[in-house]
Amino acid sequence: MNRSILLCPPVFYDVIYSINPWMQGEDVDKPIAMQQWFQLKNILSHLGANVKLIDQDPNLPDMVFTANAGTVRGADVVLSNFKHPQRQAESQHFAQWFYNEGYNVHRLPPSAAFEGCGDTVIANELLIGGYGFRSDLKALRMTAEILDLDLLPLKLSDPNFYHLDTCFTLLRPDLALYYPGAFSSYTISKLKKHMELIPVSPEAANKFVCNSIVCGNVIIMPAGNDAVADELENYGIQARLIDTSEYLKSGGSLQCMALWI
Ligand code: ARG
Repeated sequence: MNRSILLCPPVFYDVIYSINPWMQGEDVDKPIAMQQWFQLKNILSHLGANVKLIDQDPNLPDMVFTANAGTVRGADVVLSNFKHPQRQAESQHFAQWFYNEGYNVHRLPPSAAFEGCGDTVIANELLIGGYGFRSDLKALRMTAEILDLDLLPLKLSDPNFYHLDTCFTLLRPDLALYYPGAFSSYTISKLKKHMELIPVSPEAANKFVCNSIVCGNVIIMPAGNDAVADELENYGIQARLIDTSEYLKSGGSLQCMALWI
């Protein structure tokens, strides 16, 4: 395992506006948020990932959710066009970071909303993309074309699961964990043509179990999901659990806080 992953130390993380149903203005315990982030960073490093960091802008509390920076394939990155004005200024920081690292930075037209790996995941030659809340279908089409991938577009249907990475975790190119309640039966039938699907209950979905990070045969999962962790052992996948209480207050968890690059 020598892949790189981008994280943002949550120095200015907070919940001060509401752009998804989970953001109810609950106070964030800053020291605990920092501890939880360090646990993630330490586990990733321990598993052999090359952790890269970007500094947080003091005025952009959601910048810690680096999954939303864009979608990366090789030396190319398609930058996000954040749907909500509250997050739009993040893009300039991520663009600068990718330029500095030598990536080919691609931008979509401003009319195409796109939130990077919040709504996309690559399985071999396939771009699996969620649309309907934060990303537009046309943005997914453009991204697939730029990155030279086929597209499997999945319409999201529950506002609580507003990003694909809140209701879908790709475990292997042909195996995924998913929350059926976030998709129509037609969309699920499309997915099933491409892979085996392991469903999770509404309770587990609400604990953001589908917002896990897959690192080889290890899955880093939000705490409280021991039953799913046990089930995944049957597939040869071992779980590490981290409490992400402070990030759930923002409608995010582990996968949101990391971007494979
Ligand atoms: N508060 C953030 C937002 O609503 C959370 C982003 C979560 N990121 C993700 N990849 N699901 O934009």
